[in-house]
Amino acid sequence: MVKVNSCVFISGAGTNLKALIGSSRNYNFPIQIKLVISNKKNAPGLAFAKKYSIPFMIINVKDSLFEVKILNEIRKKNINLICLAGYMKVLSKTFIKNFKGKIINIHPSLLPKYKGTNTFERMLENNESLAGCTVHYVNEKLDSGKIILRKSFQISKNETLKSLKIKTQKTEYKAFSEAITKLHIKN
Ligand code: GRF
Repeated sequence: MVKVNSCVFISGAGTNLKALIGSSRNYNFPIQIKLVISNKKNAPGLAFAKKYSIPFMIINVKDSLFEVKILNEIRKKNINLICLAGYMKVLSKTFIKNFKGKIINIHPSLLPKYKGTNTFERMLENNESLAGCTVHYVNEKLDSGKIILRKSFQISKNETLKSLKIKTQKTEYKAFSEAITKLHIKN
């Protein structure tokens, strides 16, 4: 199968990257990861790129040309899908315009509820009964692009921040790959 050339952006642990690498190693999964980009030089998630010999790029967001450098690399590798997996920087409008409909993100809540950060704290404070994650297209507004897929689970009575995070992330690993199989993208 011809797989779509993809790039994963991370900033931290990279456990979603790990799950995506796992899926992409299956013959029938529609993407191959050609590049990993991190805005943190010590992001633990880079270990997964190294382990699986995936080229990676560390970017310095203080460099005014950093997005131009990313765009050049992405064009060179003919990347047609960008997966944001815990990338904690907001991409510029110009960058998003350049890749319209080709950037997706995973968010730890059932959007449109709980956009932004500290989702788990806010959910528990509000005594929500359902938690989950959302995979969505990225547009110019934070966590507001078209939803591709949501996966939910019940919040238990004795839920803690830690248990909620663990359950959500487990849900994310499935949701991200499942969402990618639903996309209509080509090289
Ligand atoms: C995930 O929970 C994702 O929803 C959020 O950032 C977290 C990244 O975790 N956007 P990891 O780096 O993939 O472990």
